[in-house]
Amino acid sequence: MKNNDFTQQVLQLLAPVSLGRPFFFCPSLDSTNTELKKRAQDGAPHGACIAADFQSAGRGRLQRSWQAGAGSSLLFSVLLRPPAKLNRMFAFSALASLSVCHALENHGLKPQIKWPNDIYLHDVKLSGMLSEASGDPLFLIIGIGININQNKDELRQLDQPAISLKAATGREWNRPRLLAEILGHLDRLYNEWQHGGDMWLPAYCARSWLLNKQVVVESGERKLKGKAVAINPDGSLVLKRGEETININYGDVSILAVNGRWKDDK
Ligand code: BTN
Repeated sequence: MKNNDFTQQVLQLLAPVSLGRPFFFCPSLDSTNTELKKRAQDGAPHGACIAADFQSAGRGRLQRSWQAGAGSSLLFSVLLRPPAKLNRMFAFSALASLSVCHALENHGLKPQIKWPNDIYLHDVKLSGMLSEASGDPLFLIIGIGININQNKDELRQLDQPAISLKAATGREWNRPRLLAEILGHLDRLYNEWQHGGDMWLPAYCARSWLLNKQVVVESGERKLKGKAVAINPDGSLVLKRGEETININYGDVSILAVNGRWKDDK
């Protein structure tokens, strides 16, 4: 999409003072996270946002790459400069996950959050998030990739099962409009958080795809089976294994059992 069209559409829909301003659109970039980090180091303000049609070196969690055909996805990063030195960054990525959920819910969809920050639709991954903190004072780059207008053939070419909004709903989606809606929700949720709101954790848990399911977590060298029973305010996932309770800080989770029975039980 032409630079000006995308930018104008987003800015027309954003409130005059909102996260997402200043807004930059680049047809092609290495990675919106990498580019926004450079601009943050050069002084870009809280709320700055960069979107791209194509990333030549899109990055995912756990050192993976993130691939998306040109113009098919929403690929963007937002810069947050939290007011105080915080060691709990999870709240911000949770607010961002909730913003994506709220935007989709307003279109009649029922997204879920797969810990820590993937968005699932109909039990398949729709969106991923890479949150990166750096600098002193600390800033946070939240990068989100959402599959929007890929058809089923394009999705089959990805290295993991994936769904797009078009595949789920049978229609094309307007990317700048959805981006403005997400940024609007993020702005509102961030303001609520700043004024002491702590509803983000129950809201996050209410949309969790994992809670109360038997899962396996691959976390570094460890591979742990158990029931996902809670998410702590610091973002750790609580796994119950017999009498033992384990807090997991990072990793890849998959669902192992449905209705309490292990899938591989004989
Ligand atoms: C994951 O699921 O592993 C996270 C994927 C995050 C991808 C987004 S696309 C926009 C932003 N720029 C990047 O390089 N990565 C994030």
